[in-house]
Amino acid sequence: MPRKIAAGNWKMNGLRADLEQARAIAAGATDGVHAVLCPPATLLAVASDLSGLATGGQTCHPAAKGAHTGDLSAAMLADAGASYCIVGHSERRADHGESDADVAAQARAAHDAGLTAILCIGETLDQREAGDTLAILEAQLNGSLPDGAHAGNTVIAYEPVWAIGTGKVASPDQVAEVHDALRGWIVDVVPDGADMALLYGGSVKASNAAELFALTNVDGALVGGASLTADDFLPIVRALAAA
Ligand code: PGA
Repeated sequence: MPRKIAAGNWKMNGLRADLEQARAIAAGATDGVHAVLCPPATLLAVASDLSGLATGGQTCHPAAKGAHTGDLSAAMLADAGASYCIVGHSERRADHGESDADVAAQARAAHDAGLTAILCIGETLDQREAGDTLAILEAQLNGSLPDGAHAGNTVIAYEPVWAIGTGKVASPDQVAEVHDALRGWIVDVVPDGADMALLYGGSVKASNAAELFALTNVDGALVGGASLTADDFLPIVRALAAA
């Protein structure tokens, strides 16, 4: 059985005053669910020191170190206490032009630093309406998954671009179709693919979490907006524990 993971992606939100929410999330973490918080890098070290809270970076540079002003290496994230790193989020792919090859290099760097990569893939609304969803996702997965990926160092997050931050959650049927396909692809390319956690992301909240977590190949969620407060995030963690 893959691990159950509830990961919160704070994106470019969070000042030191908001660590109160991180503390409350740490305090409310439930047995049987791995809760992970990915705060902005400025808060990573201090958030990592909260007992019971696993943390992650939101991206990393593919290189281990060097002349890359403003960037962070995976080793730096690990040194700050992270055990995960999101790679290939659609906001990075869109805002920073990150290609599948870039994402694979970042995931490899995360692995080399001992981090578990949370590798994101997702189709746009145009791609879905053109009937291309599964073909696009399979190509993204094949292009972004580095050699050496296994269930212990990689988690896949399916995040339809049209569902991120829009309040439009994919329907259980849409999520099931993609996650069942994902499981099939990952089992073909990764020896222990049956054990790799597959997360859904895109407007997950307390009111829709349970129906998503009831799906066979949904092992958790990558949560943006609803991870910013303990009041919104902990019910999602509890829904996952109950699934
Ligand atoms: P959202 O973001 O939950 O705010 O839709 C999800 C994500 O981008 O990871």
